[in-house]
Amino acid sequence: MKFEDVPRLPLTTLPTSFYLMANLSKTLGGPDIYIKRDDVMDLAHGGNKTRKLEYIFADAIEKGADTILTMGGIQSNHVRQTVSGAAKLGLESHIFLNNPVPEREKEMLSGGNYLMDVVMGAHEYIVDGDDDEINEAIEQVTQKLIKQGKTPYLVPLGASNGLGSLGYMIAAREMMVQWEHMGINPSHIFLGTGSGGTHAGLLTGLRYFGNKTTKVIGISVSQPEDVKKQTVRDVLAQIKEVIEIPDDLVSEEDIIVSGDYYGDAYAYPTDSANDAIKQLGREEGIILDPVYTGKAMAGMIDMIKNNQLENAKDLVFLHTGGAPALNTYADLFIK
Ligand SMILES: Cc1ncc(COP(=O)(O)O)c(C=O)c1O
Repeated sequence: MKFEDVPRLPLTTLPTSFYLMANLSKTLGGPDIYIKRDDVMDLAHGGNKTRKLEYIFADAIEKGADTILTMGGIQSNHVRQTVSGAAKLGLESHIFLNNPVPEREKEMLSGGNYLMDVVMGAHEYIVDGDDDEINEAIEQVTQKLIKQGKTPYLVPLGASNGLGSLGYMIAAREMMVQWEHMGINPSHIFLGTGSGGTHAGLLTGLRYFGNKTTKVIGISVSQPEDVKKQTVRDVLAQIKEVIEIPDDLVSEEDIIVSGDYYGDAYAYPTDSANDAIKQLGREEGIILDPVYTGKAMAGMIDMIKNNQLENAKDLVFLHTGGAPALNTYADLFIK
């Protein structure tokens, strides 16, 4: 299928804003740094999953779904946006959550994204276990829903399959128009890379719409560089199963990931991310989070400070959302 022919169900107002972070650029004393505000969207505060869900919900509705199932950490931004989209479309949602940071169980279950999931009426299942246990729980509930005459639809982890990732091709095209209006041609875009769909979709979109030069730098939020690069490669392959694109559209050299900034593990805070969160708050009035965007911003700042970026000119930080999770890490900031 051609990219243009894939059904998409608008769930938010686009384009999101794009502007220069003048204060941060000045403090760091390097290239101009711009920000793409994908953290401000219509689905319960938004974030990068909303664009992916525009494709996934279109598919769900086409398949006659009346009930959505999805999974993630208790503090999942993906789950919150999925529940919001389901509510907007009048669908029931069932969410399967585990806890990536057991020591924060109390905080996670009393605020942030989880609180919003509950407010929006999701049926929640807290699963004490890993992916296998989650999949088993999902299977059981799916069978129960089918017996009740419902039509369930499973939204994958992070909405990061080939279909969902097309949402970031739209973001690439959108930014290219914004850059043209502003007369800039960014050398690098930074983002936090988790399940890889945002990274893979953005890279595909840039090359598909004719940008051959802007580098996409994924800051891994959870795993070493080689593991995360493979995740991105896998999603790139899935995109090729959904739309017709030339085999060599994205080259191996295009896949750039740093595994230097995620700290101990997924969702465990780092000092550099906490510092970046405070810096962005104080200098730009922008809220980042300790799980994704704080780590991504810490990576970008470190690379600028250490002159690691070749021919850096007009850098872009893709703000992928996640601020609701900050609430569950309040003790790191309120002393
Ligand atoms: C705020 C935020 N940033 C970045 C990511 C990573 O995106 P992806 O899973 O597409 O790699 C996520 C995913 O959950 C997220 O919630």
